[in-house]
Amino acid sequence: MNEEQRLYNSQVKEVENKTEKDYSQYFESVYVPPSLKEAKKRGKEDITYHKDFVIDPDFLGMGNGRKFFIRTFGCQMNEHDTEVIAGIFLSLGYTSTDNVQEANVILLNTCAIRENAENKVFGELGHYKKIKRDNPDVIIGVCGCMSQEESVVNKILKTYNQVDIIFGTHNIHRLPNILMEAYLSKEMVIEVWSKEGDVIESLPRVRRGKIKAWVNIMYGCDKFCTYCIVPYTRGKERSRRPEDIIQEVRQLASQGYREVTLLGQNVNAYGKDFNDLTYRLGDLMNDLRLIDIPRIRFTTSHPRDFDDYLIEVLTKRGNLVEHIHLPVQSGSTSMLKLMARKYSREQYLELVRKIKIALPDAALTTDIIVGFPNETDEQFEETMSLYEEVGFEHAFTYIYSPREGTPAAKMEDNIPMDIKKQRLQRLNNLVNDLSAKAMHVYNEQIVEVLVEGESRKNSDVLAGYTRTSKLVNFAGPNEIIGKLAMVKITKTKTWSLEGELIEVVAGQEVGVL
Ligand code: SAH
Ligand code: SF4
Ligand code: F3S
Repeated sequence: MNEEQRLYNSQVKEVENKTEKDYSQYFESVYVPPSLKEAKKRGKEDITYHKDFVIDPDFLGMGNGRKFFIRTFGCQMNEHDTEVIAGIFLSLGYTSTDNVQEANVILLNTCAIRENAENKVFGELGHYKKIKRDNPDVIIGVCGCMSQEESVVNKILKTYNQVDIIFGTHNIHRLPNILMEAYLSKEMVIEVWSKEGDVIESLPRVRRGKIKAWVNIMYGCDKFCTYCIVPYTRGKERSRRPEDIIQEVRQLASQGYREVTLLGQNVNAYGKDFNDLTYRLGDLMNDLRLIDIPRIRFTTSHPRDFDDYLIEVLTKRGNLVEHIHLPVQSGSTSMLKLMARKYSREQYLELVRKIKIALPDAALTTDIIVGFPNETDEQFEETMSLYEEVGFEHAFTYIYSPREGTPAAKMEDNIPMDIKKQRLQRLNNLVNDLSAKAMHVYNEQIVEVLVEGESRKNSDVLAGYTRTSKLVNFAGPNEIIGKLAMVKITKTKTWSLEGELIEVVAGQEVGVL
């Protein structure tokens, strides 16, 4: 038994010997509900970075003999938050389970971006009523972006009394306290901070894969696009310090990870909030490209802050891949104005032109909203024509969904649903056509594929992605999973490529700087 294990065991014993009374310091009914009005505020105060946060030893061992289950909705940011939440559960002694029926704690990490995202969560919560009835000791929790909305918390309080805990996106590190409170209290424990907290660097995390990893570079969003709930649910923009990000990516490289995706709601605003240094996304990418890891991506880019220096750095290539996800939302300048995107159709096209000159083979993908209030047929046609003009290789397309508390929700949602659906259908047909066209270009080409595992549809074939994020399926031995391989494309489809293994890329020992 090593020293660390001995310390852990003694801490666990200490916890087991405690009586309920010893926890009285944590026993105060917590009711801190969210407020979107508060969440809208943007203060000037500096962010404190906590590099030495530790879980209170009093809580260690709390999960011994207990299992947790987490279901995640929403974006990569939420997926990554789940990795942190899982890390906290494991530190507390819980083990993970994929079977909701055998879980002692069930947690839904939720997304508020559109109404149907929220409906999925309420549907899922409905299923848990029976689980709670059969086993009243199970703790059911809701966290993530929906928790930050008072309308959601009120609805849960009114109709979903099977829920025991609600916490938000800013106080994940408080999970041990919140759980303890839930074990000791009969009331629903609600602790949601509407003002963003500090940046906590040292939270534990269990990454889901061993090949690709997510790394947060910033939190929050200050863009306030008129339709979007994210600036309210994720707080103000706060960038992590460069040295912490570089250190994390170095560590991932030395652990054998092959790809890192840098995460932020608007990564191009990275560093804008530093008072003491001028260091932006281009600078960060320029430093990260020196790390011995084969691929580095970033998502999501807001066109407004995409600067020339970043483009220049991307042309150095190496581990900086040729794929840029650049949400446009609409091709009509007047719609973009109503959406408060802060760029025009022409400015977007100019940025695309610059990117294409610098990186002619870059794959461009985007997000588009159809049926925003007042969108005319002509304005929608402008979106169609912009899509063709740019030649996007893929897009996530959405029907506008009013989000309570946002400025757009006050505009009349005046486009009939059948028109919205028709527009979406037409756009999706174009998205499919251009995707198939982009795939066709790969025919007979030899491409570099990061092999991620067996194909989900057919375990006889391997699956991986090109630097431009194209899915490739090909036959090959399982030993090459986690490696880069050169594959010759023999067939192209709308959403994927098929090919033959040519060779595994040489010299792929785990790199340490
Ligand atoms: N920060 C990212 C977007 C995150 S949300 C960015 O600005 O690019 C992902 C996508 O969801 C958005 O790009 C937008 O297309 C869509 N979206 C956001 N709010 C929406 C709403 N109220 N209705 C429909 N789609 C929405
Ligand atoms: Fe939402 Fe706009 Fe921020 Fe993206 S940039 S998260 S769409 S407010
Ligand atoms: Fe959804 Fe929150 Fe992400 S609203 S898209 S989970 S930031």
